Amino acid sequence: MAFDHGGTIYAAARQLGCHPSEILDLSASINPLGLSSAVRSACLAALEQVPHYPDPAAKRLTEALAAHFRVPVESVLAASGSTHLIHLLPQVVPGSRALIVAPAFSEYAHALTRHHWQVDYHLLSPDDGFRLELEPLVEELRRRQPQLLFLCNPANPSGTLYPSRQLRELLDRCAPTGTLLVLDEAFMDFCGEEHSAAAAVVQSGRGIVLRSLTKFYALAGLRLGCALAAPELAKRLGAALPPWEVNTMAQFAGVAALADHDYAAETRELVTDERDLLADTLARLPGITVFPSSANYLLLRLEAPRTAARLQEDLLATHRILVRDCSTFVGLDARFIRVAVRTRPENERLIEALGQEIQTAEGERSRHA
Ligand SMILES: Cc1ncc(COP(=O)(O)O)c(C=O)c1O
Repeated sequence: MAFDHGGTIYAAARQLGCHPSEILDLSASINPLGLSSAVRSACLAALEQVPHYPDPAAKRLTEALAAHFRVPVESVLAASGSTHLIHLLPQVVPGSRALIVAPAFSEYAHALTRHHWQVDYHLLSPDDGFRLELEPLVEELRRRQPQLLFLCNPANPSGTLYPSRQLRELLDRCAPTGTLLVLDEAFMDFCGEEHSAAAAVVQSGRGIVLRSLTKFYALAGLRLGCALAAPELAKRLGAALPPWEVNTMAQFAGVAALADHDYAAETRELVTDERDLLADTLARLPGITVFPSSANYLLLRLEAPRTAARLQEDLLATHRILVRDCSTFVGLDARFIRVAVRTRPENERLIEALGQEIQTAEGERSRHA
């Protein structure tokens, strides 16, 4: 299966002959504050426990997740990253047909096809800002009768946030076809829990919510996520996991991260302010369309003849900035890139580099005209 994700700093550093830390990674959308001091201390404390096996029940972490997401503890299943849960679903849920609201995270399709499911896409269009209309989606459910429906909120890569009221309605509309809604809320922490549909999904028994702690808490290298579902489904998924799924350091880090409310508030304030400023500034550059985003990344469309692949290459080679070429997303073409929202100096570095690249391209164009 092709690897088509952001965050490939090690390969980029090998290509450039530099250290990974010299690359400004905007291709994976990770909290720019990095590890909180509370998580750093928890990781150091966890080192002392490394000679022992992890708690196989991840009890403290599971209790902390249940309290944080306001669901019963029996509804929580911790895992080493939400990607592991995405790969578990087609093995545990009976069925063979899935529908994905796209453009979307590619692991849904990878996991499904690996387990011989048929994958169909419900495409949202950039031309109307990736608007989600329920009726056409429900019609597709009726026509295709999928056992699984994948939807990400806020959407990746568009950054669109669907109202939780719309998702609760979708949940109801999944009932006639018996479709299980897989609601991926990997970036929901950047929007705030008031936008989450987790409690409604868990209560309905007709869906599963995937949460990731890797983006908001900057734990991507540690691997930590969870599923929230009705207890029976959470138990079935859990039975399919190998023992000691979540390592000791990830368990300690998760508990410390969820308790750090100051870090969460600071992150949301920083990301909201910087995202709005970055979006405004980028929108003023010629040849770039910025899509409105509620997450910690922005999707950009480049005007022809600029391609995402060429811009990605130039930004890396000349500026050591890594952006996500989104041409591999089903439903997007060769002109889309995604950039993470970072700190002010890092965002300024991107703006400066993009400005230079656009000027160079303009120069080339007028020479050839
Ligand atoms: C939408 C979405 N869901 C899930 C994931 C997986 O996150 P993790 O496996 O790190 O928890 C990603 C990672 O990029 C993502 O973009």
